[in-house]
Amino acid sequence: MRKKYVIGNWKMHKNNVEALAFVDRFESLLAKESNLDLIVGVCPGFLSLQMVSNSAKRLLVAAQNCHDKDKGAYTGEISIPMLQEIKIHYSLVGHSERRSYYNETNTSCNLKIKALLAHHLRPIYCVGETLAQYEATQTFQVVATQLKEGLKEVNKNEVLNLIFAYEPVWSIGTGKNASSAIAQSVCAFMRKTLASLYDEETASKISILYGGSVKNDNVAEYMNCEDVDGVLVGGASLEAESFYQLIKQASK
Ligand code: PGA
Repeated sequence: MRKKYVIGNWKMHKNNVEALAFVDRFESLLAKESNLDLIVGVCPGFLSLQMVSNSAKRLLVAAQNCHDKDKGAYTGEISIPMLQEIKIHYSLVGHSERRSYYNETNTSCNLKIKALLAHHLRPIYCVGETLAQYEATQTFQVVATQLKEGLKEVNKNEVLNLIFAYEPVWSIGTGKNASSAIAQSVCAFMRKTLASLYDEETASKISILYGGSVKNDNVAEYMNCEDVDGVLVGGASLEAESFYQLIKQASK
């Protein structure tokens, strides 16, 4: 059985006070759920990462980004050893906002993925096509290239430590969620691509999430798709009460 995840991406929201208030409230709500069959997580901004990680009991806490080098003259960057020091075990890689605003490429994602794996952290690798690519029916081609190039020199044992997220760029923060049929078909295609890069058994063990305008009222549709093993949630993860309701819908 593949693990199922619901992970909130806070992006550049929440100062320390707000982040801590969320964790306190959310953890107390989550404590009511003793049989939750889901791993629930958040990706806070760098400044509140340590505090959230220290106060989180059940929450998985992930960074939103990292640098591939251990140290050096890279002003404004955060290294993986710095994340390790504060006991962070996961990092997003290649979120579309990083790809589009900060010129991240499949090659730079590949360097980050290999560096995270070398330090025993788990990358959450995001892939997905733009609106123009979607309209030109290039989704499969784009996603396959993002997978192949992002996973260059990542071996079969290592790939089991990744979590993947299909996030069509046209659905992120736009309120235009991809239908569950689209999410299922692309996640199934990603699994097929992973099977061709590695093997069927390996691909069958890897969790692949959907992300893009996931809300309380559509999360269950995604969770019910055979090849969708959870969701990455932006806007709807910012309020403790409503994110908790989303978790409840997701676990139905
Ligand atoms: P959204 O963001 O849920 O606000 O569309 C999703 C994401 O960026 O992961």
